[in-house]
Amino acid sequence: MNRIFSGMQPTRQLHLGNYLGALRNWVELQNSYECIFCVVDLHALTIDQDPEVLRNNIREVAAAYIAAGIDPEKNILFNQSVVSAHAELGWILSCHTPLGWLNRMTQFKEKAGKQKDMANLGLYAYPTLMAADILLYKATHVPVGEDQKQHLELARDIAGAFNRRYETDFFPLPEPQILGEATRVMSLRDGKKKMSKSDESEYSRINMTDDADTIAQKIRKAKTDPEPLPETVTELEARPEADNLVTIYGALAGQSREQVLAQFAGSQFSDFKKSLVDLSVDKLAPITTRMKELLSDKAEIDRLLKTGGERAAAIAERNLNDVKDIIGLLRP
Ligand code: TYM
Repeated sequence: MNRIFSGMQPTRQLHLGNYLGALRNWVELQNSYECIFCVVDLHALTIDQDPEVLRNNIREVAAAYIAAGIDPEKNILFNQSVVSAHAELGWILSCHTPLGWLNRMTQFKEKAGKQKDMANLGLYAYPTLMAADILLYKATHVPVGEDQKQHLELARDIAGAFNRRYETDFFPLPEPQILGEATRVMSLRDGKKKMSKSDESEYSRINMTDDADTIAQKIRKAKTDPEPLPETVTELEARPEADNLVTIYGALAGQSREQVLAQFAGSQFSDFKKSLVDLSVDKLAPITTRMKELLSDKAEIDRLLKTGGERAAAIAERNLNDVKDIIGLLRP
């Protein structure tokens, strides 16, 4: 059986990278897989959180999933912390993960910055909790953006090592699904940096809750170069900011970069940006509007998350018990 697990952190607002790199693909995939979509709130604790803001962000991410088109009845949609088996399996897997494997993780190095001694243990162990999220449901496929590739390789390594150690094939090796035109959306201020929730500049990203004026302003201010749009993708690739805007356009329009260039080669950026604003507003506004509607009824979101959590827990507890039996923990 093919089962998908994926998740997003409720830290600050979701942005266009999260949407194009992951969420939009989930909406397609829900038609062909059994899917579990999680708001990974335990992962969010790796950075300092204001409790009230965190609570609202969890609801906001759940609302974004639904507004983008995830069906909470057909799929399982829940927040990670309500299923305590995530933390338990996280611990068990951390006892099966050599430090050397974690030391290779580039995202830890980026996030911890220069003061590694001050980074918290959770940030370091983040990838083992992520492996637990996936393996707890014996997920076979994990749709994510390109930045999560290394974490997924680690999850596969952990699953493989566990299977070998206990001479079992209990965990499937989860396959990353890095799909679509925009697997790595870059910052609007710097074409060499990933679009990220943690970037200090609001102008670096388009948030899923931005209104039409804000989207227009951010795209107008997006960094470009003085040349008109080129004719070929090879020429485009030497110009990271231009490449990023063309990639975003293509992803939103359902076109390849070649198709976008066939339409816009020779255009000035001022003109291309106008079309990009119209397209972005056209695609994002209905999602933003629906998110707002959903968020006006917090009790309903909580109810959906609760039901999803119960459905997730039923699978998770069964699998966790099997893991406990395999490794020799007594369940009297
Ligand atoms: P997070 O919350 O950082 O990102 C959520 C999803 O968005 C993708 N993404 C991007 N895609 C393209 N361009 C970008 N600039 C961009 N920024 C983010 C991410 O690749 C991701 O798919 N570790 C995960 C959360 C997680 C998880 C899991 C995912 C925890 N457990 C189990 C899958 C399975 C993360 O930090 O996502």
